[in-house]
Amino acid sequence: MTSRTEAPRDPNLVQRDLAQARADFPILRTRVHGKPLAYLDNAATTQKPAAVIDAEADFYRNANANVHRGVHALSQRATDAYEDARHKVRSFINAGADAEIIFVRGTTDAINLVAQGFALPRLAAGDEVIVSAMEHHSNIVPWQMACRRADAVLRVVPVDDAGEFDLDAYAALLNGHTRLVAVTHLSNALGTITPVRRIIDLARAHGVPVLLDGAQAVSHLPVDVRALDCDFYAFSAHKLYGPTGIGVLYGKTAHLEAMTPCQGGGDMIRSVSFDATEYNELPYRLEAGTPHIAGVVGLGTALDYVTSIGIERIAAHERELLHYATQRLAGIPGLRIIGTAAEKSGILSFTLDGIHPHDIGTMLDDCGIAIRAGHHCAMPLMQRLGITGTARASFALYNTHDDVNRLVAGIRQVCETLGS
Ligand code: ALA
Repeated sequence: MTSRTEAPRDPNLVQRDLAQARADFPILRTRVHGKPLAYLDNAATTQKPAAVIDAEADFYRNANANVHRGVHALSQRATDAYEDARHKVRSFINAGADAEIIFVRGTTDAINLVAQGFALPRLAAGDEVIVSAMEHHSNIVPWQMACRRADAVLRVVPVDDAGEFDLDAYAALLNGHTRLVAVTHLSNALGTITPVRRIIDLARAHGVPVLLDGAQAVSHLPVDVRALDCDFYAFSAHKLYGPTGIGVLYGKTAHLEAMTPCQGGGDMIRSVSFDATEYNELPYRLEAGTPHIAGVVGLGTALDYVTSIGIERIAAHERELLHYATQRLAGIPGLRIIGTAAEKSGILSFTLDGIHPHDIGTMLDDCGIAIRAGHHCAMPLMQRLGITGTARASFALYNTHDDVNRLVAGIRQVCETLGS
């Protein structure tokens, strides 16, 4: 971790900033099974700084009212807080307008909205949607559902044994029937950063829109949707130090305007009669009903927090940690790192010869170390790699070398106890 102002070269300064960052997260003081917590399950969800927890509580204490509806002061306060957070999201991902930021429940909700509201009305029999073999189920199943309904075909870009996206195969899959490309920006199971620049350029040459699943990338990499020129970008607040139950769909204005709202209700309309309904303008037309206002306020505060440290500095800290952990784990006999792409971030998956990932996870938990074990909602990827699952450590801005050292010691203990 580095300073909140200038990047320091002095390692003692780095340590001090890291200690400050850790102090911002109350749950890191929790003990698990009598041991200090080493939380290395950040790809599943990150912990929340006190500022985010306080912002939600403060909203309910001092500003709670519904948005966009009331003429009274509290409603105005709530509306301002809600729209202010939208503005922060726009700035964080460098979207062109606040109206391009749609609040949804999370990444899954965002992808389903695009699949049902954008893709499905445009899909005809024989059309094609492209995903990759390393997608999370939430970037597979919504497209499968849309393709089945339209009699369209889901095409899959292969990955190699290292977990690299096969650009040549992808280029060969793009054709006149391709209607949409939906790929992860950073694999939750492998840590692979996909070559999104090339993916988008190739799709653009065929006039095909691209959705990026940014659920993992957004907390590990700077994201600039205009520089990327992606058509849609989806992410969840809870993997970005924000609350659960809230997320973002970014879409280019023209695409969002052309989308069919999937949900009807309050706030998404301009006028309603029993003969016809006129939809509201963006972004409201895609946000039916009372939104998760406190969650949006919490997300805005999480973005303030991340910005105060700097996403580039967080990325550098996590890169260093991943490098350190990779070196330390590589020395353990019987341990195989799953996912060795040249461009990786934040995530370290591994298997141990003859030991089930769940047993690794359970024994590490006894030591106070939280990791995830299983297929990571990426069953097709596990099949491709010929494994049933992995144990996965995933990093965040508050993780330390000590967390990694404890992980390594815990894995050695697992090997001694359960190894053959
Ligand atoms: N998608 C989350 C993970 O990878 C839940 O753990």
